[in-house]
Amino acid sequence: MSNAVLSLQNLNKHFGALQATSDVSLDLKPGEIHALIGPNGAGKSTLIGQIAGNIRPDEGRVFLADTEITGMSIAQRARMGLGRSFQVSSLAEPLSVMRNVMMGVQALQSHSFRFWKPVDRDRQLLEPAYEALERMQLSHRAWTPVFELSHGERRQVEVACALALKPRALLLDEPMAGLGPEGSAKLTELLEALKLEVPILLIEHDMEAVFRLADRISVLVSGSVIAHGDSQAIRQDPRVREAYLGDSDA
Ligand SMILES: Nc1ncnc2c1ncn2[C@@H]1O[C@H](COP(=O)(O)OP(=O)(O)OP(=O)(O)O)[C@@H](O)[C@H]1O
Ligand SMILES: [Mg+2]
Repeated sequence: MSNAVLSLQNLNKHFGALQATSDVSLDLKPGEIHALIGPNGAGKSTLIGQIAGNIRPDEGRVFLADTEITGMSIAQRARMGLGRSFQVSSLAEPLSVMRNVMMGVQALQSHSFRFWKPVDRDRQLLEPAYEALERMQLSHRAWTPVFELSHGERRQVEVACALALKPRALLLDEPMAGLGPEGSAKLTELLEALKLEVPILLIEHDMEAVFRLADRISVLVSGSVIAHGDSQAIRQDPRVREAYLGDSDA
């Protein structure tokens, strides 16, 4: 048995005539960042959807550690320890940072709070939320409304929302999107520290961040993994250069 925290086995998904996922197998090991890169429309978000549970694969299996989660609902998977952030921001702008993170915890745990006093319930939500914000170096912004945050801070809050659920594996879909160099550098530094506690499957177009962070990289083109290896191997792979990187970036 492998020691993978997450493993995908022969996933296939089509939308009409389009094969969005074509026989994809990959895994995520403890302590690592595994980056998934590829051009727009390659099927990266579709793959994340099949892991998180909002998209059903046509074929194939998904395991979280030794447990098969292929047939589970989104909430069941999240409770099992699958954390995710979205490509498009899902934060409630007028609410405080803390309230946003707490809502994520509440959505998942509400069934267990039925008989609890509100004050106990709040404590049960506050503690993991605060801890997650501290790990994202954002506790000083806990009571700031989201609309006052910089773009980079919002991305940090989104990761904190996922972290507050104490995930065993984290799926991040383009966390650096739209960030300037400073925001990217900050998030890169935070993710580098985080991976030691929670392994991360990272979708990212920011190649500087990918090459710095990723222990392994899989390259997805038209639904298929065309290459897999460490940063150096991927930089040098002629198929990757042709399909994705372009000679000037490689
Ligand atoms: N629900 C859907 N119905 C039909 N086609 C879809 C659906 N979701 C995605 N697709 C198509 O599947 C392909 C893969 O899309 P996906 O969003 O997974 O790509 P991506 O690699 O995440 O791209 P990007 O880098 O732009 O985010 C695209 O051609 C997209 O148009
Ligand atoms: Mg996408």
